Amino acid sequence: MSETSNKSRRAFLRGAAAAGAGTVAAAATARAQAAPDPLITEVQPWASGLGEGVDATPYGLPIRFESDVIRRNVPWLTADPISSINFTPIHALDGTITPQGCAFERHHSGAIELAKQDFRLMINGLVDQPLVFSYEDLERFPRINRVFFCECAANTGMEWAGAQLNGAQFTHGMIHNMEYSGVPLRTLLEEAGVKTEGKWVYVEGADASSNGRSIPLEKALDDVLVAFKANGEALRMEHGYPVRLVVPGWEGNMWVKWLRRIEVVEGPVESREETSKYTDTLADGVSRKWTWVMDAKSIVTSPSPQAPITHGPGPLVITGLAWSGRGAVSKVDVSKDGGKTWETARLANPGEPMALTRFYLDTTWDGSEMLLQSRAMDETGYVQPTKAMLREVRGENSVYHNNCIQTWWVKETGEAENVEVS
Ligand code: MTE
Ligand code: CO
Repeated sequence: MSETSNKSRRAFLRGAAAAGAGTVAAAATARAQAAPDPLITEVQPWASGLGEGVDATPYGLPIRFESDVIRRNVPWLTADPISSINFTPIHALDGTITPQGCAFERHHSGAIELAKQDFRLMINGLVDQPLVFSYEDLERFPRINRVFFCECAANTGMEWAGAQLNGAQFTHGMIHNMEYSGVPLRTLLEEAGVKTEGKWVYVEGADASSNGRSIPLEKALDDVLVAFKANGEALRMEHGYPVRLVVPGWEGNMWVKWLRRIEVVEGPVESREETSKYTDTLADGVSRKWTWVMDAKSIVTSPSPQAPITHGPGPLVITGLAWSGRGAVSKVDVSKDGGKTWETARLANPGEPMALTRFYLDTTWDGSEMLLQSRAMDETGYVQPTKAMLREVRGENSVYHNNCIQTWWVKETGEAENVEVS
C-alpha cells in the first residue's frame, strides 16, 4: 500500500470511529471473548468436502441465500401480467448499477423474443436517404458507454392520495440504472441526413403495442443512444433485446424497446401515440402534457419497510438513491425527524448526470423511533419537494411524475412503515 493510501485509510478509520464505529468494535471484541463459537472452532460442512466444479452453472445465478432479491409485482395494480409492471428490489441492492436480472419491467403487450438476425431498424421520413440497418450494421458504427437511470413516469404513482405500498421496492422500484453500450442516435440520423423540415422523430418498437413515441429532434441529436448492451452483456429480452432506445433523464416510456423504426417528422405524431396516458393532472383538473424530464428525487432504501434495522442502538448506516433527469445530484440531505432537521449525506459517486447516485449517512442510532426522509438537490439548484408542496400543484388524483419526499417511520423495534407527515 502506498504512503498516501495508508494516510487516507487512517483518516478514514478516525472518521469512522467518530461516527460511532467504536460500538461495532466493542461488539466484535465481546464476540471474540465469548464462549467458543463453533463457527470458528469446529470444522464446518463447507470445509469438510469439495465445492462445486467450474462448469456447474455456465451462466451464474445468485447464491440461493439471496433468493428473495427479486423483482416483484403488485397483482391488483394491473388487470393481467402482460400489460403490466414489476419492481426492482432497490431495498436489497447497494452501489448504483442494477443487475439486469432484477431490473423492473414494463410492457404494454408483453416481452417479445426477437432474434438478432430478424432485427431491422429503419430510418425514414424527412431524410435525404432512407436506411435500413441490420444488427451487424449497428455494430460497425463507433459506440460509446454511458450509465443512465430509466424511471417509469408512473414510479411512486400510487402514493398521491396517501401512504399506500409498504416498501421502497413498491413505492420507488420502477427504476433501474445500467451501463449502456450503443451508437449515438445522432450518428445514424446524420448517416440518413435529416431534411430541414424534420423537427421530431417518431420511434416505434417491434412488439404488438409498438409503444410509438414522438421525441423532439433536439433531444434525438443530443444524447439519445441506440443501445445493444447493458452492464456489459446483451440486453435481456424483457429490456428490449436486441436493441433499445436510451433517452437519458427522460421518462421510461420514451425508451422504446425492440427498436424497429425511426421516422423523421415535422411535428409530434400524437394520433399514433397514447399521449393522453402520459399527462399530469393538476389540482384544478387540467392536464399537462410533454413533461418528459424526470425531476430530482431520492429514497432511503435502508432502513425501510423491507429492510428493517436488525441490530441494537449504535452505529447505523442509512443509505439510499438519488437522481435527477436534469443533470447530476449535487447534495442529499437526510432527516430523522420528519423534515424538522437535516444532515448532509455522503455521496458515493457524485457528479454522474442522469444516473443513480448512492448516498450514505453513517450515523449513530440511539434506539428511538425516527421519521426518516431524504431530500435531493441537483446541479440546477432544484430541490426535491415535500408531498404537501407537490399536492398543492398536482392534487391527489395524479398518477405520473410523483417525485415527493418519502417518509419511513422507523420504530424502536427497528421495523419501518410507509407514512406521511403533515
Ligand atoms: N417499448 C416497447 N416497445 N414496448 C413497451 O411496452 N414500455 C415503455 C418503455 N419502452 C415499452 C417500451 C415503458 S412505459 C417503460 S417505463 C420502459 O420501457 C421500461 O423499460 P424496462 O422494461 O426495460 O424496465
Ligand atoms: Co413506463
